Order: sequence, then structure tokens, then C-alpha cells
Amino acid sequence: MSKPPVPRQVLVVEDDARVRGALREIFVNDGYQCLVATNGREGLDAFQMERPPLTLTDIRMPVMDGLDFLKRARAIDSDAAIIVITGVGDVGTAIESLKSGAYDFIVKPVNVEGVLIAAERALERRQLLMERREYHTLLERRVAEATRDLTAALNELDDTYRSTIEALGSALDTRDIGTHAHSRRVVGYSLALARAHGLPESQLRDLEHGVLLHDIGKIGIPDGILLKPGPLAPEEWKIMRTHPDLGRRLVEPIPFLRGAVPIVYHHHERWDGTGYPSGLRGETIPLGARIFAAADAFDAMTFDRPYSVAISFEAARREIERCSGTHFDPAVVETFLKLPLELLETIRNGPASPGQPATKNPLTREH
Ligand SMILES: [Fe+2]
Repeated sequence: MSKPPVPRQVLVVEDDARVRGALREIFVNDGYQCLVATNGREGLDAFQMERPPLTLTDIRMPVMDGLDFLKRARAIDSDAAIIVITGVGDVGTAIESLKSGAYDFIVKPVNVEGVLIAAERALERRQLLMERREYHTLLERRVAEATRDLTAALNELDDTYRSTIEALGSALDTRDIGTHAHSRRVVGYSLALARAHGLPESQLRDLEHGVLLHDIGKIGIPDGILLKPGPLAPEEWKIMRTHPDLGRRLVEPIPFLRGAVPIVYHHHERWDGTGYPSGLRGETIPLGARIFAAADAFDAMTFDRPYSVAISFEAARREIERCSGTHFDPAVVETFLKLPLELLETIRNGPASPGQPATKNPLTREH
């Protein structure tokens, strides 16, 4: 059995008993449930209690006038449909009431048809406004949900990219210097150094990619040269020194890695201009590459390698300081020397990638 329809409710605020009675009769005869009040104050109490969807209010009333009632009622419920009843010729009041949020006005003397049409129209308009707002809310919620889903998908994609690059960095280390944890540590030192040097967070991702992939060009260096136990012949050095350019050509076509190119290409430049491939000098060397150079050298010195024994953190810091202005950017060195030893130790001892014990390739050297 379906429920009987809820009667539409209307509040009539009118001090004139005859008009009030006539309005009440009009509404009741048309199936409305009608509440009445004799002034604005009473009307506001009834409004607050019942929250009627429709209200008709006279303007000139004792205690609280219709305009005051209108403003207060709209402040309580901005969806309230309120129609004001004005006297003939009182256009100014009608306009003011519309400005204050009245839906409509009717002019005395009231007639049945005019009242019911105005009431119907006001209720329809109220319904439309409420539906439109609900629709907007629904749309906003859907947009928020879609944005959340998209953000989650992008984050997942980001994680996938990151894992892929990390795996590639580890693979490169393992083939070259024989320990996959080298890239993890150099990323750690580089990021700490970059932050302390004032690089914005937005540039750290490119730095990280560049550090992880700096030697990717070595993929194109034959094993006979890359893994040669003895010293390289001049011709072999020439080939070895093509790896920054090989790396640049590998990375450049990949849009999300483009920011890593300056580090990949310039990671063997030196502050005094004696590096390669371009022989850049000073601040013409990209800052990421200058930061990487110090971080990489620090790790190379403080971690046992097949061709060299690790020295202490303190000794490595002194060595980096000694090479300030020749090999390294003096400003970067200054920042590096201020990094707390505990931070460097934490980075050094950080977790290795799961399932990949550090192994060493006894045949490799620093290039
Ligand atoms: Fe390199």
C-alpha cells in the first residue's frame, strides 16, 4: 500500500484577521496544510519550528515587519520560498523584498487564482533550485571521486616507473662496479645534498632519475673494455668516454626522463673544465651533475671496491674538500661538508633492495 501524499505546507504571516482567514481558506481548500501567524515574530517562531517550504507574509505588521521576517527566515533556510503581500502602489517595498530574497509578490486585494498560481510557481522554482543544487553536489562528488581515482592511478604509474628505473640502476651497477646498492646510496647522498643546497622538491625527481641512470650509456660499451682488468689503452678510453653521449641518446627520447638528461650527459664534467664530454667549466655544468659528482665520489671513496679500499667518512670529506674548485663545485662542497655525519651514515646503512645481496665484480674499475 502506498503512503498517502504528504500535504504541502504553507505559513501565512498576516496581522489582518480577514486577509489571514481568506488566505487560510484558499490554501486549505486547495489541499495545503496551513499555519498562521499574526506578526513577524510569531511567524519567525513558527518558521523555525516547522520549516515550511512556502510562506506568504504581509509587509506592514506590528512587532516585526514583513521585510525583517523575510531576511531572518531566509537566513535560517535559504531554500525557503517566501512570497510577500503588498498594498496597491507599493512598488518600492515589492522591489526591496525581491532584493532580500522573496520569490514573488502579490498585491492586495488577494484573489484565489492569483494566490494559488503564485504559490505553485514559487514551490516549483524552489524545487528546481534544490534539484539543481543537488545535481551540482552530485557532480562535484563525482569529479572528486574521479580525481581521487586518477591520482591513485597516476601514483601507481609513478611507482611503476620508479621501480623500473631503480631496477635498471641496480642492474647497471651490478654489471659495472659489482654492487647494486651503490645507486641507492648515491641517490640518498645526492638528495640530501640537493635539499641542503636549496634545490626545490620539484627538481628532486629529475635528479634521482639522473643519478640512477647516469651510467646507462655503459650498456653500449663492450665487456672487453668495461670489464678489462688492466689499464685501458688510449683507444679504449676513447670508447669508454662515449658513455655519457650514449646515455643521453638512450634517455632523451623518453619524455618523463628528459629532466635526467643533463646529469646523464654531464656527470663526468669537472668544475675546472678538465672533464668530459663537453669540457664545461664552473656553473655552466648543470647543478644536478655537480651535486652528483660529489655524492658519487663520496660513495666511491667510502665503500670497498675491487680496485680500492674504503677510507673513513672523515678522510673522504677531507678529500672532497681538497678537490673543491678543481673537481667539484666549491659551493656544493661547502654544503656537503655541513651535512651531519649521522645523516650520511643512515643513508649508507639504509636497506638494500630485497632479494639482492650486494655482490662484487672483481674485474671492474672506476670510469
Ligand atoms: Fe660514468
